[in-house]
Amino acid sequence: MAKLTYLGHSCFNLEDDKHKLIFDPFLSGNPLAQMSPEDIKADYILLTHGHGDHLGDGIAIALKNNATIIAPFELAVYCQNKGAKAHPMHIGGSFKFEFGKVKLTIAHHGSAVVDKVIEYTGNPCGYVVNFAGKNIYHAGDTGLFMDMELIGEMNNLDLALIPIGDNFTMGVNDAVKAVDFLKPKIVIPMHFDTFEVIKQEPKEFKERLKRSKTKVKILKIGEEFSF
Ligand code: NI
Ligand code: MN
Repeated sequence: MAKLTYLGHSCFNLEDDKHKLIFDPFLSGNPLAQMSPEDIKADYILLTHGHGDHLGDGIAIALKNNATIIAPFELAVYCQNKGAKAHPMHIGGSFKFEFGKVKLTIAHHGSAVVDKVIEYTGNPCGYVVNFAGKNIYHAGDTGLFMDMELIGEMNNLDLALIPIGDNFTMGVNDAVKAVDFLKPKIVIPMHFDTFEVIKQEPKEFKERLKRSKTKVKILKIGEEFSF
């Protein structure tokens, strides 16, 4: 049994009785977040790209927990240069960790740490994670892409986490098509409402999929879901 907790934006905690993973831990900068990075316990931190709303508190959490960051090569090296432990991977590659298998997928987006200067951190990614016997896809930030059909076909997804916020990623219309490609048993929308430009009505996403075989689960921030 795996337990997923939504921490806001694209941040999810995924755990079983032995392992704790966190995706894209954007907490201290997120006006809607309820947890502070100091309260996070994690063994592994999976980062989809270098943007502040995804890398977020990743390095601080890694240092505090002596956790390993999993990220595309360039972003992993960026984190190592800040003192964090990291396992670099890249798109199409998979690796069997103690908690399960991780494979990196494409994501159509950018990846950089944006401050006064912009430091590019390679390509963004999505993740297919086999955890507690379940196949979970975290799409990261991305537009719709045709290869989602292949991801669905090859991974028999139990759960997909996909953005619906529009402006920076897929909006509702494209996310509905993504579900059609991915065919997960359950889909959870993410990356909406955090900022004004990505305000979205997740109920519309659910409504549009009411005849789909995929079950839409809308999680409130802080809500847990076992599957
Ligand atoms: Ni982004
Ligand atoms: Mn984002």
